[in-house]
Amino acid sequence: MCGIIGYIGNQEAYPILIKGLHRLEYRGYDSAGVALINPNGQLNIYKNKGKVSQLEESIEGKDVSGNIGIAHTRWATHGEPNNVNAHPHYSNSGTLALIHNGIIENYALLKSGLIEKGCTFHSDTDTEVLVQLIDYIKTSGNHSLFDAVQLALNQVIGAYAIAILDRDDPDRIIIARKSSPLVIGIREEEDEYFFASDASPIVEYTNSVIYLQDNEIAIISRKEPLKVIDLKNVEKTPEVSRLEMSISQLERGDYPHFMLKEIFEQPKTIADCMKGRINTEGTNVVLSGIIDNKARFLSARRIIIVACGTSWHSALIGEHLIENLCRIPVEVEYASEFRYRDPIIYPDDIVIAISQSGETADTLAAIELSKQKGAFIYGICNVVGSSIARATDSGSYIHVGPEIGVASTKAFTGQVTVLAMLAMTLAKEKGTIKPNELTTMIKAFKKIPEQMELLLSANSQIQETAKIFTYARNFIYLGRGYSYPSALEGALKLKEISYIHAEGYPAAEMKHGPIALIDSEMPVIVIATNTKLYEKVLNNIQEVKARSGRVIAVVTEGDEDVRKLADYYIAIPKTMECFGPLLAAIPLQLLAYHIAVYKGKDVDQPRHLAKSVTVE
Ligand code: G6P
Repeated sequence: MCGIIGYIGNQEAYPILIKGLHRLEYRGYDSAGVALINPNGQLNIYKNKGKVSQLEESIEGKDVSGNIGIAHTRWATHGEPNNVNAHPHYSNSGTLALIHNGIIENYALLKSGLIEKGCTFHSDTDTEVLVQLIDYIKTSGNHSLFDAVQLALNQVIGAYAIAILDRDDPDRIIIARKSSPLVIGIREEEDEYFFASDASPIVEYTNSVIYLQDNEIAIISRKEPLKVIDLKNVEKTPEVSRLEMSISQLERGDYPHFMLKEIFEQPKTIADCMKGRINTEGTNVVLSGIIDNKARFLSARRIIIVACGTSWHSALIGEHLIENLCRIPVEVEYASEFRYRDPIIYPDDIVIAISQSGETADTLAAIELSKQKGAFIYGICNVVGSSIARATDSGSYIHVGPEIGVASTKAFTGQVTVLAMLAMTLAKEKGTIKPNELTTMIKAFKKIPEQMELLLSANSQIQETAKIFTYARNFIYLGRGYSYPSALEGALKLKEISYIHAEGYPAAEMKHGPIALIDSEMPVIVIATNTKLYEKVLNNIQEVKARSGRVIAVVTEGDEDVRKLADYYIAIPKTMECFGPLLAAIPLQLLAYHIAVYKGKDVDQPRHLAKSVTVE
């Protein structure tokens, strides 16, 4: 949801900014722009509709000199994607350039106030109000840029990560955040600073970072040490953290798309996620976040899981796991609905927030609400140091490495893996699982990475099946029990990247409506693995076949019954029912991927989507 980056130091800023924008492009890609102050003190702003590569083309031959600059890649909220609405926005005085990630909720009011004072606006964005307001305060009150930023932000309602460049002060950039992430990278020996919406553009230059906190403004200067002051004018001592990320994790390598790379990484990422949590003998599971808060978890009246998108699907699997193994009631909520419906939250409830990015605005808001009501908050995140990871009382990282493809794959299986370990650890502590049952479970669980590897070797078979269905305009995905969330996630993957309409349904619900859609044109993907509802799913397949539907079944290896019925099948290795979604995810991801590739779609950056949704 918009990516921002900036640089100040001794190197040419432009190549660093462009490279950084490519890394951040997953956050939004409808327009991009850059602002630089050249050695003669001239402020050059270039912006363009489209992707970062189009910006680069449009800038060719122009003056991109300067060792201070800011840049932005946009996901439009207010104002259509075009050259004018692209960031950076510039002030009427012509001295300031500003980039922004977030939403200014009271922009209309601020804008009309400024228009009354004679300000002119050029774009349809909420962002422009920030630069004009700061400029107005600075020039009319004769304030320093810092004071003007602080005064302006005290009038602003909304979410922002901003950076401001001042032509009249080419040694300084001011940045600020509230509810949208900002990371500062420091390379002290070179007197260099980098900042960005996440650490991916920074990691190749330095491992030392500071995560700016809400309501903080940082003055990044080549002449003075970094200064962080909050909106109430209190000076802060920023904490320097070390990044644990490698550049190879951010590169596609030989894969044609990040999504395919991330699908193929899953045997490793799941093994990484288990590391240190399942002992090497495979006899014990310890999720330290649960053990550290054992009393709180043991006395939980209820667990509420809040999440969005794919993370919400993994939450549904978590509900099954925790209820089955721990006998604690679980409710799963869309964070965006939960936050606005005055939910009943008891102080002895535990709220688990699941988020790959750790930045989803609705999930963050649901956490704040639950905190106010006294619940204990547990986070399951991928991005280390993210806002959600920091806002929660405790939590577990999924440790799957950066996920760049907009459609989530390895984060989904990482989340399910953590939820499985959470349920097993808690069940052991609660005594709701017998020791021998736990040992059997752990044994099956440990085999998942190698079983995933096996499944990936069926890639070309799945690719062939995908080719047959490239024509389809609709898909239905069916599953029951643990496989129902898998059906939802399979359908989401397909619609996200191929733009084919797809619906996930609990298989038995099909006869209450969706069955009317079935004809010989309708592909129906059924997750019909060996579960306690297997026979019933078999009947559901019969119902589809009786109406000429075309069935693609995901079956357990060795299954003959479904295989005979289905038009196409994909076999997954045998595992326990509760771990089935970890394996079923892979063929469904691959199927969606290959269909999208055959249709010529932009798999890693599908239209209208963004990976990190930092606005509500
Ligand atoms: C966006 C992404 C999805 C993701 C969802 C929730 O819609 O495109 O892939 O599942 O946000 O994101 P989170 O980072 O909170 O898991």
